[in-house]
Amino acid sequence: MAIPTDVNRTFDTSLVDFNVNASFSTTESDPSDYGAVNHATTTKTPDVQPTSLFEEQNQEMPAQSQTSVSPVDIGSAPKPPTSVQHLPTQDTYDQWASIYDTDGNMLQSIDDAELETLLPDFLAPALSSSKSSSTKSAQDTPTLSLLDLGCGTGRNTAKLLSYAWPANLLVEVMGLDFSRGMLDVARTKLRPLMHNSKDKSKEEQNISLRLECTDCFPTISHPSASPLPSVPDGIGLRPVDAVISTLVLEHIPLLPFFATLAALLVPNGLALVTNMHAQMGAVSQAGFVNARGVKVRGSSFAHTVEETVQAAGECGFEVVEVRERAMSREDVECGRVGSRGGKWVGVKVWFGVVVRKVG
Ligand SMILES: C[S@@+](CC[C@H](N)C(=O)[O-])C[C@H]1O[C@@H](n2cnc3c(N)ncnc32)[C@H](O)[C@@H]1O
Repeated sequence: MAIPTDVNRTFDTSLVDFNVNASFSTTESDPSDYGAVNHATTTKTPDVQPTSLFEEQNQEMPAQSQTSVSPVDIGSAPKPPTSVQHLPTQDTYDQWASIYDTDGNMLQSIDDAELETLLPDFLAPALSSSKSSSTKSAQDTPTLSLLDLGCGTGRNTAKLLSYAWPANLLVEVMGLDFSRGMLDVARTKLRPLMHNSKDKSKEEQNISLRLECTDCFPTISHPSASPLPSVPDGIGLRPVDAVISTLVLEHIPLLPFFATLAALLVPNGLALVTNMHAQMGAVSQAGFVNARGVKVRGSSFAHTVEETVQAAGECGFEVVEVRERAMSREDVECGRVGSRGGKWVGVKVWFGVVVRKVG
């Protein structure tokens, strides 16, 4: 087992084949390392069954004993106990933001690879329906409104801005996220895209961008609240033509997620949702290792594709497309993901669904 060369990077937790009975403590081992299926309740001791889906190869996390996180023998440099800190998801991303784009997160790489084809396939019908829809600007120019829900550092907002939009279309792109840290990175990253001096600026191309910091799923903490996230200017959000939400669903219960999505879309509006696959989510969750070597995690759920599709239906969506993606050996060999991706070969790590709000 290799010794980690740096600690400030994403971990994707592996499991070891133990039956765990550990508490969610900030200093003890974390049950989800061993396969907790629903990580959302950080105060609960999960009933975790051993699984042998994967081999323990995680460079950051040496195999751990059933009752402790004692160092294992890694030659002459024993690794100190790994501590885990559970934080509110918002705080987790605030702390993760500065390295989120650069810490070698293989799920982002898989998401990028899949979106190369899925995103254009998704945008084409949204585009053609916007041309024929009644959504017109004051000058009667067709307008397409797009929302990146939980946009984070703008990884995929950038793709929306860079898409080859037709010249006669007004494109309004909005990114929402509740992590100021993530949004600060997004602003820094997206500003040059909006004002590229070589080309016409995006404004000249009729593309606008708005980023707002807000809790996108207010009904989770206040079930009687409006499912529409509030934005500070008082104008509020009006339903958009299409929503993308990538790698966010992991943190949100299914019904509040799709109820919010329904509230955010015009009738027949389309949504593209990607997420960690439950096969991976059963033994892993989003998080990173901070500069002090502490694994930092928010709240996560391992939603299955079937549960996701069912919840979408219950909230008034029809399913247009479902994609599942296993890690392939080629992903590792061609460098699409780092060597840490090796342990996931053959495992489904990602899924994407395209849904349409029934009009
Ligand atoms: C794994 S990141 C994904 C970011 C981006 N969509 C991407 O694909 O790179 C999850 C994002 O969801 C955001 N998020 C989670 N729960 C949220 C909520 N209730 N309201 C707004 N944003 C939320 C987090 O702040 C974080 O930026």
